[in-house]
Amino acid sequence: MEAMTPYAQVQLLSSATKDWSITEILTYLTGQFPGQVSFSSSFGQEDQVLTDMLAQEEINVKIFTLDTGRLFQETYDVFDRTKRKYNLDIQTYYPEADELGKMVTERGPNNFYFSVEDRKECCRIRKIEPLKRALSGTKVWVTGLRSSQSTNRQDLPKFEYDEHFKVIKYNPLLDWDLEEVQTYLDKHNVPQNSLHRKGFISIGCAPCTRAIEPDEDIRAGRWWWEDSHKECGLHK
Ligand code: ADX
Ligand code: SF4
Repeated sequence: MEAMTPYAQVQLLSSATKDWSITEILTYLTGQFPGQVSFSSSFGQEDQVLTDMLAQEEINVKIFTLDTGRLFQETYDVFDRTKRKYNLDIQTYYPEADELGKMVTERGPNNFYFSVEDRKECCRIRKIEPLKRALSGTKVWVTGLRSSQSTNRQDLPKFEYDEHFKVIKYNPLLDWDLEEVQTYLDKHNVPQNSLHRKGFISIGCAPCTRAIEPDEDIRAGRWWWEDSHKECGLHK
């Protein structure tokens, strides 16, 4: 597979693994790309499903998280409980200190509320640049994306080549609905963010996430003051 273009690899992976289970696919990927498969977790419900699968099956995938410095205490709590329950090293990436310091010095600690440009600059420094470092040396990036999370995500394939980060992206839970995710978590007694019980579904940084009403869109609580695509740039 090494000699093929990433696009051919994506095609081959999509067709060869069509009827396989998620853990079969993850195991296969670690065989094809040893030491080069990474999973990003923000400790959301989907991510917790995948962490449980990886840990229970002892699949050798690097698990990493991007600590923006602005996460909820409840997110750090589920991070800690997950680390201890599964005895995992979760590689943690931080924003580059000088760049972050310069931004906060010049624009203040709440710049994300000023304009979409300020918000995107904050996401770039706190998430995108650390993600680039986290993905360095990675061939396959595993995520917890689901199609029904938003209209932007409806047409995503399970395997795709991410031109921006130059990795093959694998989205194993793409077809799962929220109920299936919840059922898995309850059945396997997986640690969950306590904010989910308080009306938070999609959880990012604390100043940029609010609880939603039952009839609201899953991502309505993210950057709720903006009339934008409500994406931070991790997923184009
Ligand atoms: S975001 O782009 O709006 O922030 P979302 O919260 O829906 O993304 O999460 C989708 C997927 O992106 C997660 O399943 C996870 O793979 C990845 N992700 C999002 N935020 C982080 C983070 N802080 N650290 C690591 N992975 C993340
Ligand atoms: Fe900054 Fe908000 Fe983006 Fe977090 S979600 S990186 S606080 S703009």
